[in-house]
Amino acid sequence: MPRVISIVSGKGGVGKTTLVGNLGTILSKKFDKKVLLIDANITTPHLGQYMGIDFCQTTLNDVLRGKALVDEALYEHESGARLIPASIELHDLKGIDISKLKKVVAEANKKIKDTEIVLIDSAPGLGREAVASLKASKEVLFITTPYAPIVIDVMKCARIAEHLKLKPLGVVVNMSHGKGHELNKQEIEALVGLPVISTIRHHKEVHHSLSARKPLALHSPRAQGTKEFQRVAEVLLGVESDNRGMLARLKEIFSRFYNTTPEDTKKMQAQ
Ligand SMILES: Nc1ncnc2c1ncn2[C@@H]1O[C@H](COP(=O)(O)OP(=O)(O)OP(=O)(O)O)[C@@H](O)[C@H]1O
Ligand SMILES: [Mg+2]
Repeated sequence: MPRVISIVSGKGGVGKTTLVGNLGTILSKKFDKKVLLIDANITTPHLGQYMGIDFCQTTLNDVLRGKALVDEALYEHESGARLIPASIELHDLKGIDISKLKKVVAEANKKIKDTEIVLIDSAPGLGREAVASLKASKEVLFITTPYAPIVIDVMKCARIAEHLKLKPLGVVVNMSHGKGHELNKQEIEALVGLPVISTIRHHKEVHHSLSARKPLALHSPRAQGTKEFQRVAEVLLGVESDNRGMLARLKEIFSRFYNTTPEDTKKMQAQ
């Protein structure tokens, strides 16, 4: 069975959809994973637009309404990730029961057999929509900006996820400017009671990628922001990244070349 992970926040606009789009791209393109992205933010959906897949004829709304099968609402992104978008039309909210999301996810996993990871882009907060995403998941990843009121709302979401017995993967801090007035990693960890697995800075390139209708990881694969999104993907997969600087890596290559150990190199440097 695939892993099913909800991306959740207490407040809106902190970067859930941006994270889901970039994780989907990186997990598919860089790590060769079969990923399914579901836009479960049915009242204000954006994932399709962020991925450059919009004006979709069949959407999650049709599936929830029982008017379409799950594979009819499935779209393939150029990264290889698959996407079930929600409808952007207001009238498409009629007759929707979001509590059926869990059944839709189960049906998707039955029909799309090779899926390894399902990422659910949740609605913000603690309402019916957000709770439906949590109930459809086995694991949860929280995202926040580094400010107290937003972090406090994540604390509440974390308690609900705990109550639902979901596995917490940690907290992503997004849109940090690295300023003193922001909460730091230790303060956020102490408040939420979960590790901060990555801090993503505020990058203006994210806005450029948004207007190009591509996730940053596809639009600017070498950007610092892409590396930060990739760090989150590595933590999800349990992959160790090489965070050492260029100089340390070059030293290791040279030491291998001359058949010396890094310890030898250190001794030589100390002389
Ligand atoms: N690291 C970042 N740097 C700069 N801008 C960012 C970053 N992450 C997200 N943004 C921008 O912040 C805005 C909100 O992001 P996004 O739509 O992903 O949030 P959300 O949590 O999904 O919102 P909602 O709760 O409304 O669904 C967008 O304009 C997005 O481009
Ligand atoms: Mg969103």
